[in-house]
Amino acid sequence: MHEDVERILFNEQQIVAGIDRVAEEVTRAYRGRDFTVVSVLKGACIFASDLIRRIPIPLELAFVSASSYGAGTQARELVLNFFPAESELAGRNLLLVDDILDTGRTLSRLVDELVQRGAAEVRTCVFLDKPARRAVDFHADFRAFEVDDLFVVGYGLDFAGRYRNLPFVGALKQECWSRSRPGTRSPPRSDGV
Ligand code: IMP
Ligand code: MG
Repeated sequence: MHEDVERILFNEQQIVAGIDRVAEEVTRAYRGRDFTVVSVLKGACIFASDLIRRIPIPLELAFVSASSYGAGTQARELVLNFFPAESELAGRNLLLVDDILDTGRTLSRLVDELVQRGAAEVRTCVFLDKPARRAVDFHADFRAFEVDDLFVVGYGLDFAGRYRNLPFVGALKQECWSRSRPGTRSPPRSDGV
């Protein structure tokens, strides 16, 4: 436990069991086909590294970071950085892996961008799914766990850059997120990175 965590939602054993299940589904879906796992930085790095070690078929690994700029009612601009270069992803079957599917804006835009940049196929795999928060029509092809509308940290998920290293997933205490946002009564909403 951690002093800033209200309660643990998924402990290490439960996380392992969830990842084993998703890894089997992914293995079945891609057996006999080349594919590249594209981990969305930074949040998905822990999930992706545990996931791929449980997938016993050939795969390649790539990374993308997605930062959004702009506020208010303007369409936010999504700036993507790929490693390796995006040209190496053209023509490939991609499995985009992210930490959490919240409003769905980040992943749906990432999928569109990757298709536009020439991916043969793009599927998505998320560690956590928060369906109550969905703002765009989007569902992930694979997911480990569903969570209620709480602000969660740990196992890659952060608040203000912290808590990614917790080995479990927990609900962040309200006093922790409201401290940096005086007067706010709703949890922080991410900029999608
Ligand atoms: P979306 O575009 O709203 O689906 O946002 C997805 C991103 O928001 C994730 O990759 C996370 O970085 C962030 N996010 C959403 N909910 C949480 C949460 O409960 N804890 C930590 N980060 C979150
Ligand atoms: Mg993220």
